[in-house]
Amino acid sequence: MTVFPVTALRSVELGTPDLASSADFYTRVWGLQVVAEAGGKVFLAATGNDFHVLELKQSHRSELRKITFRVGSAEELAALFERTVASGCTVLREPGPADAPSSGERFVIREPQGSVLEFVHGDRRKAGSAVANRPERLAHVNINTADIESLAAFYRDVLGFQLTDRSKLMAFLRCNDDHHAVVLAEARANGLNHVAFLMPDLESVMRGSGRVVDYGHPIGWGVGRHGPGDNVFVYFIDPQGVVVEYTAEVLQVDETYRFRGPDEWVWPPGRTDHWGIAPPKSDACKKAQISIGFSGV
Ligand SMILES: [Fe+2]
Repeated sequence: MTVFPVTALRSVELGTPDLASSADFYTRVWGLQVVAEAGGKVFLAATGNDFHVLELKQSHRSELRKITFRVGSAEELAALFERTVASGCTVLREPGPADAPSSGERFVIREPQGSVLEFVHGDRRKAGSAVANRPERLAHVNINTADIESLAAFYRDVLGFQLTDRSKLMAFLRCNDDHHAVVLAEARANGLNHVAFLMPDLESVMRGSGRVVDYGHPIGWGVGRHGPGDNVFVYFIDPQGVVVEYTAEVLQVDETYRFRGPDEWVWPPGRTDHWGIAPPKSDACKKAQISIGFSGV
């Protein structure tokens, strides 16, 4: 079995120009729960084991402030720090105790394309479980990159991820049995494409989406089933312009999984999902997927 230094995508931190409206959306509409408020941030939990999966912070614009990955051991954390520094990352926080309520040991770097990455070991967990129609944990982050090959190489060679599939425009990378935890999307500018939350099952994706629609947020793309990863999806735009996804049934893979490249990931003309039923993505969704930058860039 492959042993990965990074064992999970734990959380993301979003900057928002309207903290109250974002917190309201992610609790009442999206199905998360506020578990802590500290240091000017709101920490929101899903129903699974992670202490939190989302941090919100007031900012002058919507932006991706940080992606946090969990690391398997203190030794791996130290080794990862050495490798990220050697690869040219900027150190934002040296290894040490995290100042968040989730605690643990952590370091924070900015990788060469501008995203801020936090690596944590020994963070607090809670006794979680799957709850119908509510997100259980994060499923993946999708990052726009103007140089997909070098960012894919960074995730693979420096962070120890594996490339599971490569379509014409996207690279799918895993750090555990999930087909992907990070997706890189070819784009003109670096930034956040979207954040995906794992629902317990397909029915929860449908019913959760119904709740979001009831609150006045139209579907941006979906319902459909992706090709690489085989997961079902529905995309929405949050009130501050961030694209978020409900997903479920993410393909579980191991070292026997056969990588497929762009030549094999092809659709019949006009089709954008595996079932062939997803209507075309809305223009608003397409625009939002390329409008969120990294903080400090
Ligand atoms: Fe996605």
